[in-house]
Amino acid sequence: MTDKTQGCLSKEYQQVIGKPWTEIETPALMVDLDIMEANMDKMMAFLKESGAGVGIRPHAKTHKTPQIANIQIAKGALGICCAKLGEAEAMAEGGVPDILIANQTVGANKLKRLAALSKKTNLKAAVDSKQNLLDIARESAAIGGNVGIVIEVDVGNKRGGVRVHEDAIELAKLASSTPGVWYAGIMGYEGFVVFMPDLEERRAAAEKAYDILLSYRDAIKEKAGLDSGIVSAAGSGTYMFGGKRKGLTDIEAGSYIFMDTRYGGTAGVDFMNSLAVIATIGSHPEPDIYITDAGLKSMTKEFGMVSTLPSYGLVVHHMSEEHVTLKPTETPDRLPGIGSLDEKFAKTAKKPLEVGDKILLIPSHCCTTVNLHDVLYVVRNGVVEDVWPIAGRGKFA
Ligand SMILES: Cc1ncc(COP(=O)(O)O)c(C=O)c1O
Repeated sequence: MTDKTQGCLSKEYQQVIGKPWTEIETPALMVDLDIMEANMDKMMAFLKESGAGVGIRPHAKTHKTPQIANIQIAKGALGICCAKLGEAEAMAEGGVPDILIANQTVGANKLKRLAALSKKTNLKAAVDSKQNLLDIARESAAIGGNVGIVIEVDVGNKRGGVRVHEDAIELAKLASSTPGVWYAGIMGYEGFVVFMPDLEERRAAAEKAYDILLSYRDAIKEKAGLDSGIVSAAGSGTYMFGGKRKGLTDIEAGSYIFMDTRYGGTAGVDFMNSLAVIATIGSHPEPDIYITDAGLKSMTKEFGMVSTLPSYGLVVHHMSEEHVTLKPTETPDRLPGIGSLDEKFAKTAKKPLEVGDKILLIPSHCCTTVNLHDVLYVVRNGVVEDVWPIAGRGKFA
């Protein structure tokens, strides 16, 4: 098992470092480091070229791994987003210097933890109610902490977020005048837009959401006299619009570093698949049936069936708890961003596959699949370079 308290790995994991990826025990989660870093570089280059002055605060719910957050920051990210307090604690423990918790944090003990965390990292938290803001401020002031308040705005997602300007203005005034907290800006995630199939419809819906968000920025400036702070929005499905929209300060995309079949099939999300679950063919009982040792307990299915690399010439037919059933096909799935992984791992694989051979499966949803694994095997040029504990895995609270 992983010794997370000391941030190091047990021998069981360490012994595979320096060995070919095929020696990793399966099922296991693997990232190709070169492809992942190329995705990060591509995003940074896009934001620079767009010239709109928008940065990135990538969502770490995707990887839950401090080592990856620190690479993102080294490449120029402004900080990271986290979904939950526990995830943020794991990131801070791993040395991440700037964290926005992009959901509300509520409950007596959690507020104590939030206050304590603000003494370890530059911490910002999404807030959409006066009571929550005052509770955060009280706990924070009591121990000399300082939590940045980011007002969450509903831009049409119908999740958390203030619904009217007046509430945002009141929260901004309170945040800037109450000990223990400071006004850090606004955020509004257009989650209902990111998978819209038609790119032009998606663009129009995203721009409308940013219009709403920026109207809150203007109202806060006019009525509360606050002109500083972040204006944060956008995910991997809208990065191409949010990253060009003047007035936003940062986008919150997460999945772009790994990709998956859902984003792979979404127009305009032009990153490469870097993440895979390694499985072993455990059974080949008929010429047309291959069964792997990985199933729903190592890959999620809420966004549909997993896929595989096209050069295997196989297609996924069924997923159960500990099995995936694949069958030969003349027309394998070919995700637009799958080329590099396919080239590196499947083109050269011996065929036909036999019992005992390893095969890469592509998650349909990278974020929830990562959350099923203790560690991430980090592979470069087919060799295991490192094994990183997924320190934020299971940290829902
Ligand atoms: C608040 C917030 N920001 C950004 C994102 C975007 O993440 P991704 O790029 O993985 O779609 C999400 C996704 O759920 C989110 O909840």
